[in-house]
Amino acid sequence: MPSIYKSKLRSFLPVPISKRFLSSEWIALVSVSMTVFLFIHTQILTARIEEIKQEALTAAAAFSAHENHLSSVSQEKSRGDFSGNNAHSNAQEQSSSDQQVTLSSGNQHRHRQYLHAKKKYNATALNNTRNSEKETLFFNRVPKVGSQTLMDLMQRLSVANGFLFHRDKTQKVETIKMTYYEESRLTTMVDMFTPPSVYVKHTCFSNFTRHGYSMPIYMNIVRDPIERVISWFYYIRAPWYIIERKQVFPELPLPHPMWLKKDFETCVLSGDRECMFIPGEYHDGVGDHRRQTMFFCGHDEKCVEFNGEWAMQKAKRNVEKHYAVVGVLEEMDITLKVLENYIPRFFAGAFNVYHDNLSSMVKINKNMYKPPVSEQVKNILRQNFTNEIEFYEFCKQRLHMQHAAVNNL
Ligand SMILES: *[C@@H]1O[C@H](CO)[C@@H](O)[C@H](O)[C@H]1NC(C)=O
Ligand SMILES: *[C@@H]1O[C@H](CO)[C@@H](O)[C@H](O)[C@H]1NC(C)=O
Ligand SMILES: *[C@@H]1O[C@H](CO)[C@@H](O)[C@H](O)[C@H]1NC(C)=O
Ligand SMILES: *[C@@H]1O[C@H](CO)[C@@H](O)[C@H](O)[C@H]1NC(C)=O
Ligand SMILES: *[C@@H]1O[C@H](CO)[C@@H](O)[C@H](O)[C@H]1NC(C)=O
Repeated sequence: MPSIYKSKLRSFLPVPISKRFLSSEWIALVSVSMTVFLFIHTQILTARIEEIKQEALTAAAAFSAHENHLSSVSQEKSRGDFSGNNAHSNAQEQSSSDQQVTLSSGNQHRHRQYLHAKKKYNATALNNTRNSEKETLFFNRVPKVGSQTLMDLMQRLSVANGFLFHRDKTQKVETIKMTYYEESRLTTMVDMFTPPSVYVKHTCFSNFTRHGYSMPIYMNIVRDPIERVISWFYYIRAPWYIIERKQVFPELPLPHPMWLKKDFETCVLSGDRECMFIPGEYHDGVGDHRRQTMFFCGHDEKCVEFNGEWAMQKAKRNVEKHYAVVGVLEEMDITLKVLENYIPRFFAGAFNVYHDNLSSMVKINKNMYKPPVSEQVKNILRQNFTNEIEFYEFCKQRLHMQHAAVNNL
């Protein structure tokens, strides 16, 4: 039985605790808490943990306090370990094709016209797969973008297309934002996989060149940033999620009924801390998923700034230069077609395998406890997610160009 199926059953089975950590959402929560903690510039970490526990009036924070504690070990290791990051932030990469330059300008309006003009796109220029020296595909997956389904698909394809499928080992603390040494260990491990191989892990983009290895083929999936935070808000309030957490950590308090009854709209409109998304913040005390761009920006400290301009530009450059495909959850069919065409070694036949076996695929965790959120509230949020949205639109447009390029051939 593939491990992804186990996640559905594990709350009912007496499996060892370590197995329970397979849940990607759990891992993601840990990771975000981790990120939050990496940037607390305080000497006495334990004191700060207590302080944050005080601040955290919501049961969500109470629930994540345990992970914060776990991640403190790594935090200690990582202090003062950002040497060398500056070199990488100064990198000014020049795009090679005119199409890419247009994208980089971030002028979405001009770009839309550009797409409209039915210009012939050059699939070769948009194909980063051809630049990689090694047939190792690295899917540094963003949480809450439906990647369970894609992993199921990749496992099926690994048989048909003859490649090895690896995913991150079960561990207590999933480190999304790594220190130089952790990155070094990760890149060494990924480089050791026998090609053709796929490796899947929740982590920020790593520059393999900097660690002395050739770049793998990068891929990822993005989702509308506003939908992602709404999804997370209701996900952590879903009954199955709370029960699973309680089973893993019986010592943690149950969430307060008032917290459970919160709805997203009221939360935003009343200025509740949990639903405040303040641009420029590095630490928001809530382990949610507001930072999608960070996964593409990298492990640099500046990548953690919420809705940061620098992080967004860096993320765009990395996508242009190093990502073979960044799919879009809302456009699964185009995503599959582009994956098939640009990374055929791994994704040949993906579209048909997906559609012919849809009924037996691991489903995106659809949450029936998620009420609709009004456009008015979404618009309030959009004002604070400008760079996150720009990055998402950028990925979507690039995907469309790649799609158009192969259809025009
Ligand atoms: C397409 O792009 C590639 C790589 O940049 C280039 O070598 C090739 O000449 C381009 N083809 C056309 C028709 O522009
Ligand atoms: C992209 O490059 C890969 C590797 O060279 C190749 O297999 C694939 O067919 C190319 N796709 C397109 C659309 O050029
Ligand atoms: C990756 O590292 C190499 C070597 O340090 C550097 O030349 C390159 O600009 C870096 N690329 C990115 C995307 O940071
Ligand atoms: C949006 O950001 C501003 C600060 O720039 C902040 O005052 C406001 O509370 C934020 N709104 C939300 C809904 O997070
Ligand atoms: C899925 O669909 C393909 C045909 O598109 C088929 O060959 C394969 O056996 C199906 N089953 C699974 C488990 O992937």
